[in-house]
Amino acid sequence: MKILACYSNKGGVGKTAAAVNVAYGLRRAGKRVLLCDLDPQGASSFYFRVKPSKKLKDARFFFDVARFTRAIRGSDFEDLDILPANMTFRNFDVFLSRMKNSRSRLQKALKKVGNEYDVVVLDCPPNISSLSENVFKASDAILVPIIPTTLSERTFEQLIEFFDEHDLPKKKILGFFSMAQASKKLHVGTIDKMKADHGKRLLDVAVPFATDVEKMGVHRAPVATFAGSRPAAAAYDALCRDVLERLG
Ligand SMILES: Nc1ncnc2c1ncn2[C@@H]1O[C@H](COP(=O)(O)OP(=O)(O)O)[C@@H](O)[C@H]1O
Ligand SMILES: [Mg+2]
Repeated sequence: MKILACYSNKGGVGKTAAAVNVAYGLRRAGKRVLLCDLDPQGASSFYFRVKPSKKLKDARFFFDVARFTRAIRGSDFEDLDILPANMTFRNFDVFLSRMKNSRSRLQKALKKVGNEYDVVVLDCPPNISSLSENVFKASDAILVPIIPTTLSERTFEQLIEFFDEHDLPKKKILGFFSMAQASKKLHVGTIDKMKADHGKRLLDVAVPFATDVEKMGVHRAPVATFAGSRPAAAAYDALCRDVLERLG
């Protein structure tokens, strides 16, 4: 079982879009996939038509195999299951930071539950916190969407610095460009500069800014299911291929 996180310390950059489309792509590639929606806003649960769980009252469920397993829901697609978001994830950070061996808790929980899956995809909320440290430790690879602008470049560099300072393996970081617009000089310039400065940490993928991705909210399904022959779907396919290669 491999763990793939979709993470950025910035919000609104395309983490959820990547989690949903890559989870679907991996499943189409024959993998059994569990998508954990760790963001209490529940966007990836929404895209897969799975309701957030209201029954769960505290985050302890996550560390109890039987309760975690019971919280998992099927999606419209075989071999693609969802752990829907729930309100206890609002306090997941505080909860994790109070636990013993707090940095490896997530990894332990996922290893126990994840045996029935080939890949567990984590759709993460945006911040650097106990939860993120758990995610960094647990993950085999971390997909980081980068909108090619100055601020996003800075955020990406902050993430790399965090890995340096905490002695974390930077090779897990797989940056890719998100919402890229070839008509914008700033985007093109930032992509070139970042490839020169951070080439090793970047996949050669740019998901274009595309209405098809926004329409996922209308269709409540991955892009490939309703716009499979179009550029955004092709970009997510490329992302999936790179991820599969990296996960081995
Ligand atoms: N490639 C894209 N093109 C156009 N809109 C996008 C693209 N990726 C994401 N979006 C839109 O941007 C918003 C934020 O995307 P989302 O994936 O939810 O980001 P995050 O999970 O990082 O907060 C959503 O409204 C989504 O529809
Ligand atoms: Mg999100």
